[in-house]
Amino acid sequence: MEPATLPGTVQVKAPVGAEQRACKMLLPELEQAGHWSDVRIAVTHAPARVLAAAAFAPGLDPDGIRHSSILLRVAKPFRRQGIGSRLLEHLEAEARQRNAASLRITFDPFAEPATGLFLKAQGFECVDRFLTFESNTQQLMDYLFPLRDWLKERGDIPTSARVVPLIETDLEKVARLHVDHLGGTFAGVLTHLKHLITGPSHFHNAVLLAHNEPEGLILCENQNGLTQVQSRVVSPAYQGSAFNAGWANVLLMAEVLGYAHLVGSHRCRFSCLGSNGHTLKLATRCKAETVATQEVHRRTLTQLVSSLTVGTAIS
Ligand SMILES: CC(C)(COP(=O)(O)OP(=O)(O)OC[C@H]1O[C@@H](n2cnc3c(N)ncnc32)[C@H](O)[C@@H]1OP(=O)(O)O)[C@@H](O)C(=O)NCCC(=O)NCCS
Repeated sequence: MEPATLPGTVQVKAPVGAEQRACKMLLPELEQAGHWSDVRIAVTHAPARVLAAAAFAPGLDPDGIRHSSILLRVAKPFRRQGIGSRLLEHLEAEARQRNAASLRITFDPFAEPATGLFLKAQGFECVDRFLTFESNTQQLMDYLFPLRDWLKERGDIPTSARVVPLIETDLEKVARLHVDHLGGTFAGVLTHLKHLITGPSHFHNAVLLAHNEPEGLILCENQNGLTQVQSRVVSPAYQGSAFNAGWANVLLMAEVLGYAHLVGSHRCRFSCLGSNGHTLKLATRCKAETVATQEVHRRTLTQLVSSLTVGTAIS
């Protein structure tokens, strides 16, 4: 297809009114994950067109350093005309204002081979992989339930630890746990959690309380027999280590799978970074198949540049 010629000035801004619908069409991922905190679009005004959209959110590297996580898509007719580069430049300026140390983009290199070439041209490098596994729910339960019971018998799981439905928790504290250890903005995550507890399957979202404080969280979706673990976090003090067999994750996963099984789950999908040894081991032990492999690309932000504000025209 011949690329459409770009008329006049392109502006980067937050979407309003009908632009929000165009934005959701360009980024359907926004519906699946609620942690994207901000959205920007590249538009022309005469004629009024949304050329591209991007979402971003603060995130955390495995070593705890803050980055800006980005989702970016240019509408097909407007590709290879510098729109992606301009939008990225704008996102970079906003990330610097928020003191992010790097930009991170996760994408499927097979579905979107152009993205790899674009990111290379923009100075990004591949730093990790994001793997999605699928396993038989029963097989996962057969592994996790006896493990949980054994950890309980051994006294590894403190008596103060319990898993409760999200709706029964202090959502502000749970949002803080998410922001501090997984990313997102407090307002964005809290809105998402409030939305989740109004849904008919809100009880699929579970929180680990230890001494009545939220220390772990699993957000799950169960549809047509498939359970998808959308977000999973355990605070560092409760994560597996040389001194901790990772009981918090086992307890949370076992509880969530118990709910899922009750509502007819046959298969379960869960994801992790390629550097997360514990989850990789779980996938191997449960004979899970790898159903998606995405690449994580990063560009470090080293120099300070003059700041851009939302609504800045770029031509
Ligand atoms: C990747 C993407 C954002 C690039 O946007 P774009 O506006 O077309 O990119 P630009 O015009 O700014 O390209 C900048 C440079 O990147 C490289 N590049 C971009 N697309 C390329 C392609 N298809 N083939 C080879 N190089 C490419 C080129 O070096 C290009 O410079 P040049 O045109 O002067 O040669 C766009 O193709 C897209 O939206 N793809 C889908 C992405 C997606 O699925 N995102 C979701 C996960 S983040």
